Amino acid sequence: MKIILIAGARPNFMKISPLMAAFAKRNSIDAMLVHTGQHYDEAMSDLFFRQLGIPEPDVNLEIGSASHAVQTAEIMREFEPICIEQQADVVLVVGDVNSTIACGLVAVKLGVKLVHVEAGLRSFDRTMPEEINRLLTDAISDLLFCTETSGAENLRNEGVAEEKIFLVGNVMIDTLLANRAKADASSVLDNLSLTAGEYAALTLHRPANVDDPKVLSGLLDALEQIAADMPIIFPCHPRTQKNIAALGLADRVESMRNLRIVEPMGYLDFLKLMSAASLVLTDSGGIQEETTILKVPCLTLRNSTERPITAEVGSNRIVGANPKDILAAYDDFKAGRKPPMGTPDLWDGCAAERIADVLIDKLG
Ligand code: UD1
Repeated sequence: MKIILIAGARPNFMKISPLMAAFAKRNSIDAMLVHTGQHYDEAMSDLFFRQLGIPEPDVNLEIGSASHAVQTAEIMREFEPICIEQQADVVLVVGDVNSTIACGLVAVKLGVKLVHVEAGLRSFDRTMPEEINRLLTDAISDLLFCTETSGAENLRNEGVAEEKIFLVGNVMIDTLLANRAKADASSVLDNLSLTAGEYAALTLHRPANVDDPKVLSGLLDALEQIAADMPIIFPCHPRTQKNIAALGLADRVESMRNLRIVEPMGYLDFLKLMSAASLVLTDSGGIQEETTILKVPCLTLRNSTERPITAEVGSNRIVGANPKDILAAYDDFKAGRKPPMGTPDLWDGCAAERIADVLIDKLG
């Protein structure tokens, strides 16, 4: 069975890593990796390949940044001839980025089976580009692998046939568990002169939070108050760095001395930074899952989550982007009111192995 795996943006790389390893162990699977080049900076891409031991991509489409339509269209145009030339049996896409839907569409239109890993997640907020990518990719996939029961339920509610849906756990957590010991050895705390348990870690990159000056300044208001209690370490996504300057907020951010903006980190340093943080604040999807496993309280600066299990059993709390709500949640945290710290079913480090077995069974 020849499988083309697609990786495009930073959150894809940790999902691809355990799949490549599980496929390499099975003689009946011949896997090749296509990188679309949606993310291309050293810190957003190459570093992750090296740290996670992902083989060099067989092909890099080198698409880079552009508007949604242009980026999606360019990926489709560049991927189609490769898909034809390779005569693959399966195209496997992960997550919800533009590369996911672009390559998925190319595959199904060529009659190649499409497999979606991390299927069924829904924020029910169609203003998020990722929600559109998720809905569309799931609608055209042949096999859909879910991380949590809500994903499988959402697919059933959308009319996806039961025999296509597999609850297998979380490949991102496979990577976290496999790399915890390595991350422990990271010197990131020393490099930033931090003490474990005495700082917060922050990430922000969603268009809804960082493209609108009002929303972004509201977030800074809340962060300023939290930063009065402890340093906030903010590895800053390139999109957010550009927007802080473009929206005229650079002076304000610079004046907040306890909000420490640093360059995007590699996987191992960031894993260490999260694990030793007292609190994580984020608008990322994957970080809600990672903090659940690390049992670190997480305040999600969005109005919805597509990963409800992290708030039901895990340490995640969905607080939105309104400063009052963020500070109310922060007060709870300060008062020592602990969120639940449970572990979702099947988040045990074996999701990629389960996926490989199902693929052989169903498509081999
Ligand atoms: C993309 C995903 C988002 C994911 C995020 C993780 C979509 C629709 N969005 O958002 O779901 O959570 O990746 O990071 O696919 N840039 C660089 N260097 C890079 C990559 C991007 O400077 O290596 C800058 C460019 O200015 C670019 C901007 O970041 O215009 C946004 O990049 P893009 O890939 O369009 O979306 P992300 O915001 O990264």
